[in-house]
Amino acid sequence: MTRYRGVVVFLHWLVALLVIVSLVVGKLWLAPMANAEPFKLTLLGGHMLSGILVLLLMIWRVAARWRGPDPAPANAGQPLLDFAARAAHAGLYLLIFGMSLTGIALSQSVGLPAIVFGGEGALPASFEQFQLKSVHEMLSGLLIALIVLHFAAAIWHQVVRKDDVMARMRFR
Ligand code: HEM
Ligand code: HEM
Repeated sequence: MTRYRGVVVFLHWLVALLVIVSLVVGKLWLAPMANAEPFKLTLLGGHMLSGILVLLLMIWRVAARWRGPDPAPANAGQPLLDFAARAAHAGLYLLIFGMSLTGIALSQSVGLPAIVFGGEGALPASFEQFQLKSVHEMLSGLLIALIVLHFAAAIWHQVVRKDDVMARMRFR
């Protein structure tokens, strides 16, 4: 077996898309927007639903990986690099779960579901006073860094090593 099964490939690309969109929208649009802005509720609602969808897809993904079978680990030519790849993949899993869970915890502590989806009350002036917001923000920085590294590693395999690791994550 030289490639991941269809369900794992599907979940990799769907989660990748949702996470990249959440990161870009979160950093460039959501965070700079004042909570008093009426459109903030719509944007937050979309962000919350997509973050919960990511959590459900990740639970499915862990179950799918658990059930196996998976291809043998890719070979980067050096044990240290192979270890780094395994650590980076585990880090990506942990950070994605961390983003969804800190997002949900922040939302619960502010009472966001009732405000955003129930129309009850107003948003606090800002989320800055909530410590969970700082954790959510810090994890988002780590996740962006790890995704950049992951992307660079995929390109390195493709361009420098020319070992077609990309084929392991390609749709048939
Ligand atoms: C894949 C999961 C998620 C990702 C990648 C993500 C990403 C982000 C990013 C990048 C920010 C901006 C952070 C900054 O200030 O620099 C943010 C803010 C926020 N996120 Fe998430 N998020 C996720 C899930 C969730 C979930 C599930 C919820 C709630 C149910 C949530 C609620 C929030 C809230 C309330 C903010 C603060 C917005 C503001 O500062 O105005 N997030 N998120
Ligand atoms: C941006 C373009 C991306 C490319 C070109 C890419 C490519 C790949 C490739 C080729 C593999 C297989 C590596 C191997 O077999 O050892 C892989 C695995 C993986 N990728 Fe990506 N990826 C991308 C984005 C992402 C993003 C955004 C995430 C996280 C949100 C992610 C998370 C993972 C994880 C966790 C694995 C390990 C396999 C697993 O356990 O599911 N990737 N990626």
